[in-house]
Amino acid sequence: MVNRRITLAARPVGMPKDSDFKLVESPAPEPGPDEFLVQVLHVSVDPYMRGRMNDAKSYAPPVQIGEVMGSGATGKVIASNNRQFRTGDFVEGMFGWQEYAVSNGKGVRKLDPKLAPISTALGVLGMPGLTAYFGLLDIGKPREGETVVVSGAAGAVGSIAGQIAKIKGCRVVGIAGSDEKVAWIRDELGCDTAFNYKNTTDYVAKLRELCPRGIDVYFDNVGGPITDAVFRVINTGARIVVCGQIAQYNAEKPETGPRLLGYLVVKQARAEGFLVFQFASRYSEGLKQMAEWLQAGKLKYREQFVDGIENAPRAFIGILCGENTGKQLVRVAAE
Ligand SMILES: NC(=O)c1ccc[n+]([C@@H]2O[C@H](COP(=O)([O-])OP(=O)(O)OC[C@H]3O[C@@H](n4cnc5c(N)ncnc54)[C@H](OP(=O)(O)O)[C@@H]3O)[C@@H](O)[C@H]2O)c1
Repeated sequence: MVNRRITLAARPVGMPKDSDFKLVESPAPEPGPDEFLVQVLHVSVDPYMRGRMNDAKSYAPPVQIGEVMGSGATGKVIASNNRQFRTGDFVEGMFGWQEYAVSNGKGVRKLDPKLAPISTALGVLGMPGLTAYFGLLDIGKPREGETVVVSGAAGAVGSIAGQIAKIKGCRVVGIAGSDEKVAWIRDELGCDTAFNYKNTTDYVAKLRELCPRGIDVYFDNVGGPITDAVFRVINTGARIVVCGQIAQYNAEKPETGPRLLGYLVVKQARAEGFLVFQFASRYSEGLKQMAEWLQAGKLKYREQFVDGIENAPRAFIGILCGENTGKQLVRVAAE
């Protein structure tokens, strides 16, 4: 069996390009003692991967040149020397952008195909969904009737964060990058109102118009000028959930923006960053609640697929350019 893998060919400067990646073919690995072989079904493309492509210290080590791109993935066990994982089991783990992977089971979760489609383990019932759940509820602490603004509101994390805020009885204002995305989050996901930042010139005026009672919670996926505007409209006691800053991931040097921490002083507000991993001991709580909301029809999700591991780089570049609505995935093999 041939294992097609996508490796890092060069460290990107600014926006990644196709030549930063390389498709490599090698024989599929063989499982050793206590290991099992996974046929990968879906791989994830996520904004955090942009940071891992830089040779910079972060919360996880960078991908080395020539190494397979690390990523979450789903798969099916097709051979096993491990008693916990049997042939035919569906699993989720950090298998990377490749067609086959060997694992000893560490960090691997078994999936129940009857609960929800396997692919949701990389979206609403996986890392992005848990990010929305813990970020909004534990860091944002929204209360009924409060105004919650979500940026990146039509993406994998943002589309779930907005819906959880609605479930908690908040008034939700979404910000996204196209009219179609705005229509989806407002008309199908239940945002009270939303706007397209790409055809809005004065974000502060727009936020004041759409948030007449000010902003109590801001779930920030993007940073940059959108976040600069939100600071000017926060209420006393506001909570800013710093989930991601995608507007800066391709920046070649640090941007100098307005200096806005004074708003936190005057408004006695809190801005707090977090990593979903800090909630690892409570993942089962989050997944149980999200699965219940899904089954009750309170939570909706959208997945967008491209086919073939060779198209993972394009899909990844696509999310950095806003081409995705909901969770972007690469379908590597049929279930
Ligand atoms: N803290 C954590 O543990 C954690 C975990 C997972 C994800 N995150 C962060 O959460 C954010 C969302 O991740 P995701 O997986 O849900 O990705 P996503 O939202 O599905 O995809 C990225 C989206 O970002 C938007 N975007 C790209 N460039 C932008 C810019 N310059 N300004 C504003 N928006 C821009 C695009 O939507 P538009 O069309 O709307 O521009 C794009 O669709 C990212 O910042 C990510 O790093 C954090």
